[in-house]
Amino acid sequence: MGLKVVLGVGGGIAAYKACQVVRDFTEAGDDVRVVPTPAALNFVGSATFEALSGHPVSTTVFDAVDEVQHVRIGQEADLVVVAPATADLLARLAAGRADDLLTASVLVATCPVVIVPAMHTEMWKNPAVRRNVELLREFGYVVMEPAHGRLTGADSGPGRLPDPAQIADFARSVARGHRPPRSLAGRRVLITAGGTQENIDPVRYIGNRSSGRQGFALGEVAAQAGARVTMVVGDTDALSTPAGAEVVRVRSTRQMHAAVQERAAASDLIIMAAAVADFRPLNEADSKLKKGSADDALRHVDLVENPDILRDLVDWRRAGVVPAGTIIVGFAAETEQPGASVRELARKKLQRKGCDFLMCNDVSGGAVFGQDRNSGWLLAADGRETVIADGSKLDVAMEILTHVAGERILND
Ligand code: CTP
Repeated sequence: MGLKVVLGVGGGIAAYKACQVVRDFTEAGDDVRVVPTPAALNFVGSATFEALSGHPVSTTVFDAVDEVQHVRIGQEADLVVVAPATADLLARLAAGRADDLLTASVLVATCPVVIVPAMHTEMWKNPAVRRNVELLREFGYVVMEPAHGRLTGADSGPGRLPDPAQIADFARSVARGHRPPRSLAGRRVLITAGGTQENIDPVRYIGNRSSGRQGFALGEVAAQAGARVTMVVGDTDALSTPAGAEVVRVRSTRQMHAAVQERAAASDLIIMAAAVADFRPLNEADSKLKKGSADDALRHVDLVENPDILRDLVDWRRAGVVPAGTIIVGFAAETEQPGASVRELARKKLQRKGCDFLMCNDVSGGAVFGQDRNSGWLLAADGRETVIADGSKLDVAMEILTHVAGERILND
């Protein structure tokens, strides 16, 4: 069963992107009722919203008075999304005003409300807007962080509306009860994602099936929680980089090792979601190896072991190079082995690596890789286990971060 979604649209240039947000919801089977502010109709006509949503559009509390529309729309919603929310709309919502159908509907709603601001960087940074955002978060609304990039004019910075698909996915996850943990606000989070690749020759390499999507979802949620996020990324098919995150691209395990080492000391939380190649060819050939060559070099590739980044992180922390309060989280994709369950294998791995948490999942039969869903167990070093229920990779990221961020006071 789809959700009953109320999509509020504020009067900013990004209102045109709200049309795609409507589509993203309706294509997933959700029923969308669009409630623009009067100003939003300067940017997109009501006919467009009516055609896309299949519902009439009104902006004032004086339409359909006999149906008590200003109360009914908010009451019946499973999810309210306000995208884009202008500085003016944020101020009106924060003040609890009800001077149009949208603000009245938000006041009535008891379901999750996701507000997606979009405005110029100067406005976004203005203390009045900051205070309104904080107030709205205190009220329990989820206010998304804007994306960084090109704004309406030639300027760029934080203030862009996130991608419509990202808004819809994020809001759906919030509707399922997940939240980005606010305790991560201002914290420095380092996340590795994707698989590393080790060259055999100029055309061949050793790689793995990691898509990087879970790591990117973690980056997105951490950024939405207000953290300062750095992603060290190998090979990945994840589509968009998390809003505001610094992204460092690497290819080999040794490059990832160096990139992590450089940034580890300045991190409050480090998550090794990357699938790291354990071995690399002893010698990388300068020219393409030939099948029928005299030394048959392609048939036997000698391997040497790569550094273990996760274990080194733990050693650096023991040695005081990485602060003692930095939380270190590993990942383990396991398949059942004779005489050992996935969880038993993961528990041993957690002990061997010495990290604080290990998120383990069962990848028997190729599950998880490149998929949109995930599940598993979050094992803690003190023996506790948390079941991470099956959900989208965004849901799983919200749960992992909520557990690890809530665990102890992160170092200052
Ligand atoms: N990892 C790492 N450096 C490596 C190998 C793994 O940092 N050289 C990290 C991964 O990013 C992951 C965790 O260690 O967070 C577990 O990875 P995994 O490949 O499951 O561990 P291995 O020690 O390689 O064990 P296995 O023999 O099962 O491959």
